[in-house]
Amino acid sequence: MSRANTILYLDGVSVSFDGFRAINNLSLVLDKGEMRAIIGPNGAGKTTMMDIVTGKMRPDAGEVYFDGDVDLTRHDEADIAMMGIGRKFQKPTVFESHTLEDNLLLSLKGPRSILPALFHRRSTAETSRIDEIFGLIRLGDRRRDLAASLSHGQKQWLEIGMLLAQDPKLLLVDEPVAGMTDAETEETVRLLKDIAQTHSVIVVEHDMHFVRELGVKVTCLHEGKVLSEGTLDFVSADERVVEVYLGR
Ligand SMILES: Nc1ncnc2c1ncn2[C@@H]1O[C@H](COP(=O)(O)OP(=O)(O)OP(=O)(O)O)[C@@H](O)[C@H]1O
Ligand SMILES: [Mg+2]
Repeated sequence: MSRANTILYLDGVSVSFDGFRAINNLSLVLDKGEMRAIIGPNGAGKTTMMDIVTGKMRPDAGEVYFDGDVDLTRHDEADIAMMGIGRKFQKPTVFESHTLEDNLLLSLKGPRSILPALFHRRSTAETSRIDEIFGLIRLGDRRRDLAASLSHGQKQWLEIGMLLAQDPKLLLVDEPVAGMTDAETEETVRLLKDIAQTHSVIVVEHDMHFVRELGVKVTCLHEGKVLSEGTLDFVSADERVVEVYLGR
């Protein structure tokens, strides 16, 4: 299969922990600009797959390419983040005692340390980038509030905004709606759809209602490899998916 026009290309990837193959000959391809939902039972290897892509873990075998021709197995975590892969972990990690605006400012791409970032005069470009991100994350009217005052769901959005401030090409989002209210979950669907207009996105989620609303191609992982792939209707009609995941 050709890597042209792919943002992420995994082929024959395996990784073991003490002899246990958490990722077992995994092949997964994401087109540039695509948003993909990844589902699958606990322990299927979803988070481990993200660890490999972000350079947190090195595969024992297989190819991992970003943006067509960047061999990710040759780069470390810091490099990979700089090259444009942003990752959102399940637990939000915002700077609670800073305003939302400062949280975004501190996350803008480029070498910066806290004090200069907070006290230097903002460039017009920075100001408009921050306004743009606030538009996407739906928190513009809270910009001068402390991050600590946000709900759990709003903190997730702020953290997605902090990722966007790094200007990634690919965003990896692990279980974004866990712990959100139904209204927050609905809003997160719209937010991710907006972000997907200009970014490639992988979303891991167990919430099937949310995955249905996203309306994108779905990959079901099981035992470290792809079990089924296609529309949610196709994947959820797959006997094997019902057996190991949906039917439980
Ligand atoms: N650091 C580690 N050391 C040993 N085993 C690990 C490690 N990380 C993950 N595993 C194992 O690898 C397998 C895949 O785990 P992973 O966390 O990727 O699953 P997941 O699909 O993200 O599951 P969940 O839906 O529960 O988040 C599991 O069996 C897990 O126990
Ligand atoms: Mg996981």
